[in-house]
Amino acid sequence: MAAAEKIDILLLGSGGREHALLVKLAASPRAGRLWVAPGNGGMRDLAQVADVNQESPRDVAGFARREGIGLVVIGPEAPLVAGVADTVRAEGIPVFGPSAAAAQMEGSKKFAKEVMSRAGVPTAAYQSFTDERACADYVRGLGGPCVVKADGLAAGKGVIVAQTTEEALVGVHECFTDFGAAGSTVMVEEMLDGPECSLLALTDGTTVVPLATSQDHKRALDGDRGPNTGGMGVYSPVPILLPDELEQMVRIERQVVGQLRADGIIYQGCLYGGFMLTKDGPKVLEFNARFGDPETQVVLPRMKADLVECFLACDDGSLDEAMVRWEDDWAVSVVLASKGYPGHYEKGKPISGIADANAMEGVFVYHAGTTLDDEGNVLTNGGRVLDVTAIAPSFEEARNKAYQACDRISFEGKTYRHDIGIKAIKGRANL
Ligand code: AMP
Ligand code: GLY
Repeated sequence: MAAAEKIDILLLGSGGREHALLVKLAASPRAGRLWVAPGNGGMRDLAQVADVNQESPRDVAGFARREGIGLVVIGPEAPLVAGVADTVRAEGIPVFGPSAAAAQMEGSKKFAKEVMSRAGVPTAAYQSFTDERACADYVRGLGGPCVVKADGLAAGKGVIVAQTTEEALVGVHECFTDFGAAGSTVMVEEMLDGPECSLLALTDGTTVVPLATSQDHKRALDGDRGPNTGGMGVYSPVPILLPDELEQMVRIERQVVGQLRADGIIYQGCLYGGFMLTKDGPKVLEFNARFGDPETQVVLPRMKADLVECFLACDDGSLDEAMVRWEDDWAVSVVLASKGYPGHYEKGKPISGIADANAMEGVFVYHAGTTLDDEGNVLTNGGRVLDVTAIAPSFEEARNKAYQACDRISFEGKTYRHDIGIKAIKGRANL
């Protein structure tokens, strides 16, 4: 294939992460026609909507074959775990995203722990259970704080950070009863302490290219209070991270990809490591088999790379560190959510001011839970509605700009955290 040949691309997903991926893919000289399934209200000016079920391997592969798609990019975890990448790859069509076997790094916490143990990488000590009574007995025996996790995909809800035995027992019962197959195995983990840091990496199964670090804000309310969410805001890079810690995080991700390869599993796609920076060094909290949301919305705008070339290289085994460079700028993104998220919230509220926010230099508003009505007006359509992202030469400037841009946007029930990035400003000693 000549280097300049354009290829048509199908992107699966509908979140702010996918909007950020689409913008970066569209900027590549290699990008031909772009398709999204299902997409959101912000993606229509760059891509057409493909009428396929993103979790059906046959549907996705059939569409890709019929339309002559040259690259399928998988955003969320569910299609990965369902084996969409395997079926598309079996058709001889390049795909960005790991096989179902490799995606078990996210799809089964027990699988991930076993790989980590074989690879010798630091993570919280754990026990796994398939019997609720044995699990409850173990928790009583611990008699203190612990973390209870459903083994499978639970849409971000299957983790209970329990300070007391009583909270842990409630969590154990919830995991065994509320999560179906995802909760048939339940893990009890040692509680780790320290700031969190995410590291996304691209890999073709052999070469691992770390992307920039980022820090998410998982809790719904200011001061890290309230329930866990998909993520309420994020920044990149993480200024409190020490060079030695970053080196260890990169080494851990390389060890894991190498271990999988030794086990006969070639991991191709994005490996997302969630780390806790403990006083004994970084320890793995979890791995995800995809880009983070909202982490992607601050990592990709800072990345100097041809994303189409990078993704094709992950698929054909030619990934090279030299393909990725970084802007020195800082990025901060604030999530505008619907009142009530992550619990019940209303949809269909008209949104105004997005163009005013986008008009600010260095500001880009990624759509997440939005849709368009028949006249093309943007309406809310989810819990996390918009990711208001700013990039600037200093952290403070990026943060101020993101919040100024948030003020320009209105919709009924608009809620957001006001303290995104405060920890980065306070510094390590004051956390
Ligand atoms: P996970 O989906 O496994 O990353 O868990 C979600 C969140 O729960 C993490 O971002 C942490 O804030 C918290 N968490 C998970 N595991 C632990 C642990 N072993 N110790 C302390 N906090 C944890
Ligand atoms: N921001 C957390 C995640 O993508 O899982």
